[in-house]
Amino acid sequence: MKKIIVEGLKYKYPLAEALALNDVTFHVEQGEFIGIIGKNSAGKSTLCQALVGLVPHFYKGAYGGKVIVDGLEVKNRSIADISLKVGMVFQNPFSQVTGSKMTVYEEIAFGLENIGIPRSEIIDRIDSVLNLLKIEQVKNHNPFDLSGGQMQRMAIASIIAMKPEILVLDEPTSQLDPAGSEEVFQAIQSLSKQGITVILAEHKMEKVAQYCDRVLLLNDGKIVDFATPEKIFSREDLEEQGISAPVYTRVCKALGVKKTGTDEYPVTLEDAEKALRGRVV
Ligand SMILES: Nc1ncnc2c1ncn2[C@@H]1O[C@H](COP(=O)(O)OP(=O)(O)O)[C@@H](O)[C@H]1O
Ligand SMILES: [Mg+2]
Repeated sequence: MKKIIVEGLKYKYPLAEALALNDVTFHVEQGEFIGIIGKNSAGKSTLCQALVGLVPHFYKGAYGGKVIVDGLEVKNRSIADISLKVGMVFQNPFSQVTGSKMTVYEEIAFGLENIGIPRSEIIDRIDSVLNLLKIEQVKNHNPFDLSGGQMQRMAIASIIAMKPEILVLDEPTSQLDPAGSEEVFQAIQSLSKQGITVILAEHKMEKVAQYCDRVLLLNDGKIVDFATPEKIFSREDLEEQGISAPVYTRVCKALGVKKTGTDEYPVTLEDAEKALRGRVV
C-alpha cells in the first residue's frame, strides 16, 4: 500500500528566486525506511516540511503538484489534521520544545493531552518512549537543562508517543555522539519494523547505508536517483552530488571489490567484510 505519493511537486519560498523543490515525484510503500540525502541546500528539509504540510501552509510561497500522505492531500488539509498521521522531528530540537513545561515528562505528555488521550494510556505511552529513547533518568529534569543529545531524544520521544503512521526526521542525530546516534537509529528501526513508514534526512552515510531500504538523492531541488543504498553509493558521480559514500564502500571501490553476487559495491561493514574475505587467498 502506498503511504506517501508525491507527484510533480514544485515549491518556491516567498521572495526566493529559485525553486527549492523542482518537479519531485516518488512513492513510498507502508513500512519502508527511506533516507533523503544531498548536499547543503539540496532541498532535504524543504521536502520533509512538504510531507507534514508546513510547506505550503506555514511557509506559503508558490506551490504546485501533489503530496498525499496516508490518503490525505496535504494542500487541502490543515497542519493539525496532517499531524495526527505524520510526526516530524526537526533538525534543531530547540525549535521543538514547547518552552512551557517544567519536566521532560510533562513535555512529552503535552501533545498527548492535546489530542485527548486518556490519562492511563498517556502514562503507558510515556513510559514506553522514555525506555525506547533511553531517557528515563532525565524524566524529571527541566527540558532546558538537558544536553543537546538528550533534548534531541526528548524531541523524538514526544513525536513517537503520538504514534504517527509516518515519521519524518530531519537529521535527528545531529547533536548525538556515535553511541547515542546508534541507539536512536535502532529505536527508529524498531518502529519501522512495526510498520511505521520512516522518512529520514541524514548526513551520516554509514547510517543511511545500514538502516535505509531506499535512498532518495536530491540535488538542487530535483531527484537525481531513488534506489537501494548499494545502487546509490555505487554511482560514479557522488562527488559532484556532494556525497561521500560510506567508508566501506570507498575502500571496496578503491580495490575494485563488488558486493558478492552483484554488480554494486558493498555499503555496510558486514557486506564489505564478506566481499573482501572472498578475495583473501
Ligand atoms: N525559510 C526559507 N526561506 C527561503 N528560502 C529557504 C528557506 N529555507 C530554505 N530555503 C532555501 O531552499 C533551498 C533548499 O533548502 P533546504 O531544504 O533547507 O536544503 P537542505 O535541507 O538540503 O540543506 C535552499 O536554496 C535554501 O536556501
Ligand atoms: Mg536541512
